[in-house]
Amino acid sequence: MSAVREHFGSRLGFILAAAGSAVGIGNLVAFPVAATKSGGGAFLLVYALFVFFICLPVMMAELALGRRSDKDPVGAYREVSGGSRFWRIPGWLALITPFMIAVFYLVVTVWVLGYLVETLRGNLDLLATEAHFGQFINSPVVFFYLVILMLAINGILAMGVKDGIERAAKTLMPMLFVMLLGLVAFVLTRENAMLGIKYYLVPDFSKLDARVVNNAMAQAFFSLSLGMGIMITYGSYMKKQDSIPGSARAVAITDTLVAFTAGLLILPSIFHFNPQIDTATLSDSSAGMIFLFLPKIFLALQDGVGYFGASVVAAIFFFLVLVAAITSLVSIIEVPLATLRDERGMNRKKAIYTVAAIQVVLAIACAMSFGMADWLTSFAPIAGENVSFFDLVELIFYSTILPLNGLLVCLFVIYKWKWANFDRELQQGDPTFAGSISQKYVNFSLGTFIPLILLVVFIITVADKYF
Ligand code: PFF
Repeated sequence: MSAVREHFGSRLGFILAAAGSAVGIGNLVAFPVAATKSGGGAFLLVYALFVFFICLPVMMAELALGRRSDKDPVGAYREVSGGSRFWRIPGWLALITPFMIAVFYLVVTVWVLGYLVETLRGNLDLLATEAHFGQFINSPVVFFYLVILMLAINGILAMGVKDGIERAAKTLMPMLFVMLLGLVAFVLTRENAMLGIKYYLVPDFSKLDARVVNNAMAQAFFSLSLGMGIMITYGSYMKKQDSIPGSARAVAITDTLVAFTAGLLILPSIFHFNPQIDTATLSDSSAGMIFLFLPKIFLALQDGVGYFGASVVAAIFFFLVLVAAITSLVSIIEVPLATLRDERGMNRKKAIYTVAAIQVVLAIACAMSFGMADWLTSFAPIAGENVSFFDLVELIFYSTILPLNGLLVCLFVIYKWKWANFDRELQQGDPTFAGSISQKYVNFSLGTFIPLILLVVFIITVADKYF
């Protein structure tokens, strides 16, 4: 059993680390794509409502549960429930979910690294060709990039919470903000950029239907790194004197601002590429967007700044996505590490080797499920179709289980831990929270309509994807 639990050194350190977790591929790519296809400003509005009225209370619940128990998710549920058998289940789910999400996210991040390297080598034109992506993901070089990426992430994790996770976030996050703003400033000077801005910001409420609203909810939940045990684990590294509501608000605002700003980058670029574009034809998947469409868009930026200029823009973008993905992966891999340390008494190093060994094997299986190995490519029949191992992992752990985990956290905190105890934890470090409207809202919503909404998201997803 580790003797003294490590904590984040400062409140700002915690906020940047948690924002590092939250800001990921979801913000930089999935959000702008979803906004583009789903009514621009209308989608932004719905998304922002979900972030602040639904997701923020869930984040507070996860952080409070972690800080109260000083434990990983498995330990947190066990301890706070007084050893209940039933409540062991969400504890385990909050361990397996991040473990498996990390696996498919690692693979996508490997591709991002590969695209960054190719751009730096002057091959942006090659990346913009239709056939390249398929060839790239099936070439053995992805395994090399996987090793490099694992070394970088686990290198950060090996240095611990304060000197590893927190220090990396303090360096990388400000860099990410500055680079993102720089790119936005650049694309706004391009021809037809304003068409993109107009498209992005002018609301088109006719595009909002049940499916779009469901997607906005799922996107907000994923973007804030909820339901993955991350905020429980990070909460356990928070100091008692820090405000949970205040910090959670800062994380949600940062995450949403980055997603919004990424739209100011992507939309003008798309409309510079093709002012007449029919946005309905854009791919729904982030991977399709990053690896098939964006290279073409970056290449088109060359009028005015030349091939070199376009390559610099593309390289900065891929670097941004890489940094965002690495800080997210660090947070998600910290969850199983915390479990092995807290529950099995392993030291950090041994935990890292154990988790990394299993994740590498699973990530290789995911990477090979795009044609390299037939049985992994058509791995399991879902809704009458054979889906790949990669798609199956994404479907189960990202699309299906996340809202379920969120639902269980809400019910646990309000009905098992009891809201009075939850409130006491929130008031530690934030005495003004006591009796405030926010407090009343958080308690009421977590005990009533938030779990209900998450249940609906869960049911719609199952009905939509499995049948
Ligand atoms: N908040 C992250 C994102 O928007 O991309 C979600 C996430 C994914 C966190 C994968 C951590 C992770 F490893």
